[in-house]
Amino acid sequence: MRSNYCGELRKKHINSNVQLCGWVDRSRDHGGVIFIDLRDLTGTIQITIDPDQGSNLFSIAESLRTETVIQITGQVKSRPSESFNTKLKTGEIEVLANKLFIVNKVKANLPFTVSIHDEEPIKEELRLKYRYLDIRRERMKQNLRLRNEVIKTSRNFLENKNFLEVETPILTKSTPEGARDYIVPSRVNEGDWFALPQSPQLFKQLLMIGGIEKYFQVARCFRDEDLRADRQPEFTQLDIEMSFMNQEDILKLNEELISSIWKRVKGLELNLPFPRMTWKESMERFGTDRPDTRYGMELVNVSELLKNIGFKVFSGAIASGGSVKCINIKGGNTLISNVRIKPGGDIFSEAQKAGAKGLAFIRVRKDKEIDTIGAIKDNLSNSQKDALLKKTNAEEGDLLLFGAGNTAIVNKTLDKLRQFLAKDLDLIKANKAKNNWNFLWIVDFPMFEFNSDENRLEALHHPFCAPNNEDIGIEQSKWTEKLPQARAKAYDLVLNGLELGGGSLRIHDSDLQLKVLETIGLPLMEAKKQFGFLLEALEMGAPPHGGIAFGLDRIIMLLAGEESIRDTIAFPKTQQARCLMTEAPSLVSKKQLKELHISNMDTKNE
Ligand code: AMO
Repeated sequence: MRSNYCGELRKKHINSNVQLCGWVDRSRDHGGVIFIDLRDLTGTIQITIDPDQGSNLFSIAESLRTETVIQITGQVKSRPSESFNTKLKTGEIEVLANKLFIVNKVKANLPFTVSIHDEEPIKEELRLKYRYLDIRRERMKQNLRLRNEVIKTSRNFLENKNFLEVETPILTKSTPEGARDYIVPSRVNEGDWFALPQSPQLFKQLLMIGGIEKYFQVARCFRDEDLRADRQPEFTQLDIEMSFMNQEDILKLNEELISSIWKRVKGLELNLPFPRMTWKESMERFGTDRPDTRYGMELVNVSELLKNIGFKVFSGAIASGGSVKCINIKGGNTLISNVRIKPGGDIFSEAQKAGAKGLAFIRVRKDKEIDTIGAIKDNLSNSQKDALLKKTNAEEGDLLLFGAGNTAIVNKTLDKLRQFLAKDLDLIKANKAKNNWNFLWIVDFPMFEFNSDENRLEALHHPFCAPNNEDIGIEQSKWTEKLPQARAKAYDLVLNGLELGGGSLRIHDSDLQLKVLETIGLPLMEAKKQFGFLLEALEMGAPPHGGIAFGLDRIIMLLAGEESIRDTIAFPKTQQARCLMTEAPSLVSKKQLKELHISNMDTKNE
């Protein structure tokens, strides 16, 4: 149907006869001559319809609505230099049409303008409902191209290193990755259910036991969890696993992989190796295990210093095992008013959202004078004040914001405030600045964290991560006692405050695996029931192995400079986990339910 693509045509094509297909991006009648911007996958080109080429042609062109699918035949001409369009790659030429054929008319009202000339923001609901129109627009097209480039580069990189791409089942048994499962009833096995994979974790381990040694997969994962801009119920991992490699080998290989993607997509050489930080240090300094290190405002632990100042909020927090920490906002005295940090203010509300009950502050004035609430000021001796200013590196003009109480809440509060203030005060220079890609490995995670709702330990990553050998020792009889405090051989890759990927070395010994499952509250029988196939496989010659999974959508989001992974996925779900275009999830017939042996369903279904 076409001889060339619209966006490919250049000066060298002048005088060629071409046949083009595409969509009418816009059409303008300029006193007797009609100009159509014809758009296809590659770009747009101006088509000129001159009445001299025939009245029939002209009348068809006059009737065209935008987004009509047309085919034109014509000759490439140079544009007069005064009408060059420097914004378009095809801006120095045009095609003088001699035939125009309407391939398909637009019969419906378009909910929004698709044109490359239109930069008006469009409501996301509309974009999602009419996603095919949204994909016709340049932004989504570019993001999907970028996605393809990232996947292609990753495949190339891994295949060159002899990794094998293997697909793992979608209808499977639940793997605990911390979220709820999407489940699917089995028609032929009445009462039984499949779970959609939260990740291919156990299958990739079984592939290692199967001797594959180097596996990867562009894997679709499903998690029924609270959604955010960087979380979708259905998302894609670049999932990798390898045998006979230690943590150093794995981190190095993955740094090279990431670096090959950045080189290909951004043309940038990243500095390798990426910096590393232990989980403990990250929590102390940033209050989170995915710190954005593009700006300072680090958390300073002032518990020791302030425990005896007689301010009950502080001393009480410390006495009950919590902490007092603060962040220093440089120049905060002029940048941030009291209204914002007192109850009702936006900064106060951010702290509250993270669970803080209050937000103590100190403003540093001239000659180390301070402004703060009386209860602190009255009780702070000069030497304590000096020590505090020194420890927080606070000078005239600075504002200190405090979190006091349960350490987890203090960390969460100050982490949230750091992120909020960095945006508010524009501390993050646009990512366009070279090398503003702050990659960071977080290592040495704890194996477990305490789940106070269920009053038990749970795996911080998942229960298949290997514990640090030093922490548990070789005496099996001590494992039960030592495991709860052990560090895992686990690592996360963080970029500019976002978790890009996470992985670990795995347990390849069935006794140790059983102990870990027991530690999270799965007694032998239950462990065998849920993970018997894994435990058995671990007894049949399991090699040492480990791996990682990257969130592909997140990588693409950051590379594209988008704020949400929805803009990197062709057909994403909303925050409410719905597809606005197909209206899924939706009701099913009673007959279908009956076949699936689901009897007591909501009467909503017909
Ligand atoms: P984890 O649960 O950390 O590890 O997931 C790996 C990466 O997947 C991305 N991710 C998500 N992206 C979009 N929407 C979601 N709902 C979502 N959840 C996770 C993140 C995350 O870093 N099996 C292990 C990996 C391993 O140990 O090898 C796993 O799935 O970028």
